[in-house]
Amino acid sequence: MSNIKKFRIKSFKQKKSILTLEKISLKFGRKNILDNLNLKLNSGQILGLLGPNGVGKTTIFNLITGLISPDFGSISINSEIVNKYPIYQRTLKFKIGFVPQHGGYFHDMTVFENLKAIAEITINNLSYRNEKINLLISKFELDPVRDIKADFLSGGQKKKLVIALSLLSDPKILLLDEPFAALDVMTIKTLQEIIVNLQSNSNISVILCDHQARDLLACVDSAAIIHNGKVIAQGTPSTLIQNIDARNAYFGESFKIV
Ligand SMILES: Nc1ncnc2c1ncn2[C@@H]1O[C@H](COP(=O)(O)OP(=O)(O)O)[C@@H](O)[C@H]1O
Ligand SMILES: [Mg+2]
Repeated sequence: MSNIKKFRIKSFKQKKSILTLEKISLKFGRKNILDNLNLKLNSGQILGLLGPNGVGKTTIFNLITGLISPDFGSISINSEIVNKYPIYQRTLKFKIGFVPQHGGYFHDMTVFENLKAIAEITINNLSYRNEKINLLISKFELDPVRDIKADFLSGGQKKKLVIALSLLSDPKILLLDEPFAALDVMTIKTLQEIIVNLQSNSNISVILCDHQARDLLACVDSAAIIHNGKVIAQGTPSTLIQNIDARNAYFGESFKIV
């Protein structure tokens, strides 16, 4: 395990909640997906959501962005209930950014054109717009592929592009849906560093999810296990893996982090 996580815990001091999900319940048809789920993201925190495929992780993100509404329960940002706000207002007014697991970019446009297309919506001032695009291209080391169509990028470059696109609206809360899926070890490490730097340098609070624990636990301050529609255990990676409910429901007997 890398030392990314240890650095994070040391530098994380604040405890104020920036996003709260309270008593959230949701059914699809007759199937209970979320059942009285409570979740809190502290300001400046990197929070991980863990649970097997199909447990409801993407659904939780869809509730936060406003793509779907809960049957019961409230979603608050900075203590204001946001249930009634549509997606674009959650993006612009409440500063939520979302990096989906798949896609999230214009396939047939270059890296630069992708950034320009979104920046034309989010940034009015032309010189600031260009400055921001160039800054993001350089920050994510996309200069060599600036004029390459997104479809031809590597998996890691595509992921960097989608993160860059999400940053064009200056989010305060960034949601990353399975960001490490189908990537090689070195690219995962680069992305872990990018995620940690987003908090340290840009003061962004982050929730990321994964169905596998190891890569996620290496870069979060706290992680929550989702099981049967609820958060059944939450804590720092080292306390969570000792938690008996988390071990029984998710990690299993033999799971260790080195
Ligand atoms: N729009 C939908 N309509 C019906 N069922 C859905 C819909 N979206 C997700 N589901 C179901 O809800 C459950 C949770 O899905 P999801 O949030 O995508 O899980 P995860 O991201 O943890 O893999 C799954 O059983 C999935 O099939
Ligand atoms: Mg999912």
